[in-house]
Amino acid sequence: SVIRAGSYSEELVKTAKTIASPGRGILAIDESNATCGKRLASIGLDNTEANRQAYRQLLLTTPGLGQYISGSILFEETLFQSTTDGKKMVDCLREQNIVPGIKVDKGLVPLPGSNNESWCQGLDGLASRSAEYYNQGARFAKWRTVVSIPCGPSALAVKEAAWGLARYAAISQDNGLVPIVEPEILLDGDHSIDTTLEVAERVWAEVFYYLAENNVMFEGILLKPSMVTPGADNKEKADPETVAKYTLNMLKRRVPPAVPGIMFLSGGQSEMEATLNLHAMNQSPNPWHVSFSYARALQNSVLKAWQGRPENAEAGQKALLARAKANSLAQLGKYSA
Ligand code: 13P
Repeated sequence: SVIRAGSYSEELVKTAKTIASPGRGILAIDESNATCGKRLASIGLDNTEANRQAYRQLLLTTPGLGQYISGSILFEETLFQSTTDGKKMVDCLREQNIVPGIKVDKGLVPLPGSNNESWCQGLDGLASRSAEYYNQGARFAKWRTVVSIPCGPSALAVKEAAWGLARYAAISQDNGLVPIVEPEILLDGDHSIDTTLEVAERVWAEVFYYLAENNVMFEGILLKPSMVTPGADNKEKADPETVAKYTLNMLKRRVPPAVPGIMFLSGGQSEMEATLNLHAMNQSPNPWHVSFSYARALQNSVLKAWQGRPENAEAGQKALLARAKANSLAQLGKYSA
């Protein structure tokens, strides 16, 4: 076969294609309990399981969501959770033709021997956890590691990030989950957009080197890159056309066309910036489906509208649908403010 044979290979290709379908992208709600707690605190709610359930239920039961959203990344708690009416959260997704996904990494810890950088844990036991997640309905996975520009990045940190992503990707595919490969290049710093480009090219070169070395099937993966922008503290801001030009140049130099989908993270951009940048990237044809996998840039206005009040749930869902629709149009290159 032209692609690597494995018991799940056809299913992986199909899953990746479904997620990378025109006019749709990913709703990321895989915040760890600690991070979800920060979101809830911003509207004065305690970080209890009931509050996390209420919030995720609001998001996942939004009527019409499946028109704009093809996949949703969940935290383990949500994958195994039901709504207050006793319906499995994964079934809410499947009814809307949204593929359930699962965050599988165990978070970042300091990387000894580096320049104060970090590495991502979670490979131990990953095969058995992945099999369990598949049985529970998950069909894709996410592993987020980070690269810091102000810290270097050191050759060691880049190598570790790339190797970890590649091992995770191979294990995911072996267990029927499409791996989302996410080396987030953090926005922090006052560096120029050219520096970000240089670092992104280094990182993706190494990621693809190790993906190939681990016999990962490129037709059955998705990428979650950061857009190429100046550092958050750089006085110069880049307009969407510039961000699109730099980001697409970087991807065209580093990412084979066998990869079906590029699902960007929002990384602290405002909701509007994230939409306009995505729209700009879809003004000309790309070798891949170029779309979104946003957390903050889809959820910020939902939290504001909801405020944790049951009577505002519908307003929260309306806010989510408005952001999802705007990004769907941006994926098609047809958004207008
Ligand atoms: P943001 O879009 O908020 O950067 O989230 C990225 C992410 O990895 C969530 O899955």
